[in-house]
Amino acid sequence: MRSNFQKTAAVAAVLVAAGAGLATGYAIWGWPTNWYAGHDISALPPGPETDLIRYGGQLVSDTARHIGKSATDPAKRYAGNDLSCSHCHINSGLKPFGLPLVSTFASYPMMIDEHIMSVAQRINRCMTRSMNGSMLPENGREMEAFVAYLRFISRKTPQGVRVAGMGLPPLSAPARAPDRVEGAKVYASHCMKCHKDDGQGEPAMAPAFGYEIPPLWGDNSFNSGAGMSHIGGAAAFIHANMPVGSDYREPILTVQEAWDVAAFVTSMPRPALRAVPANKP
Ligand code: HEC
Ligand code: HEC
Repeated sequence: MRSNFQKTAAVAAVLVAAGAGLATGYAIWGWPTNWYAGHDISALPPGPETDLIRYGGQLVSDTARHIGKSATDPAKRYAGNDLSCSHCHINSGLKPFGLPLVSTFASYPMMIDEHIMSVAQRINRCMTRSMNGSMLPENGREMEAFVAYLRFISRKTPQGVRVAGMGLPPLSAPARAPDRVEGAKVYASHCMKCHKDDGQGEPAMAPAFGYEIPPLWGDNSFNSGAGMSHIGGAAAFIHANMPVGSDYREPILTVQEAWDVAAFVTSMPRPALRAVPANKP
């Protein structure tokens, strides 16, 4: 159990983060620090800590090989699909507004759904939802490696502050209600060439694991509890990041197209969130 003091400290950190965000908005983007660059693991001195950070980086970008549902070591098949964290946390968490992870370590613990969540619990929330799998043991090497990688890429950011570009950019409301039939047309013209007509993307060729292009629905996709399965999250992600090559400053889709295609993708079948015990991610 956490002490009240720890709870208060965590809540204070969240308030500082929210306050900094409100006070500066996206203006802090203009600061000379580029929070998203300079995270080269190969420049670190050799040693056990560097090995752990490197393994964490591999877990983020090559998730299926290590902990996917068809991972080499059957004891480590924690995920229920073969997605990579980096399919959503683009460029291994280093793309502004591509669900980056650069100030994640510095901004946890955080209050989510009325629970104070540690960074490990937040990782397990993606394990049980986006990865449709089971929780990683908190003291296992994989969890330690994920946390070491997040600590490494967060090391430049002030404790308790979420830097500009974290999460997804706010997306304006659509002019008319999102329409999945219109969305299917957007899908056909902007998405299908990569994610395919059945939405199953393209598997990577052996010896690679996982996907060249990730699936968007079906048994091998994220489940109904994932942030990406909600229309608002999907629309904001898609507008700022899809098709590949777009970014929040130069979106390819209009706001309406992003909402429509998100309505289409989120209306397709996917695994249901399995019951999670109360107070667990
Ligand atoms: C299908 C997309 C998807 C995949 C795959 C995915 N995530 Fe996430 N993740 C999200 C979304 C969306 C959020 C944003 C929060 C929300 O809406 O719940 C998030 C948030 C997070 C956060 C909190 C970030 C912060 O600063 O608050 C962490 C940590 C995280 N994910 C880790 C992981 C790890 C580790 C993996 C791989 C094991 C992973 N995620 C796989 C979509 C994904
Ligand atoms: C040029 C190929 C390409 C096109 C076109 C494209 N995508 Fe993607 N998509 C990818 C790749 C590759 C990823 C993995 C992230 C990355 O590497 O950028 C991805 C990731 C995603 C994800 C998050 C991961 C997941 O499993 O769900 C969503 C959602 C998504 N794309 C939706 C779309 C939508 C909607 C469109 C059309 C508006 C689209 N994409 C167009 C290649 C493409």
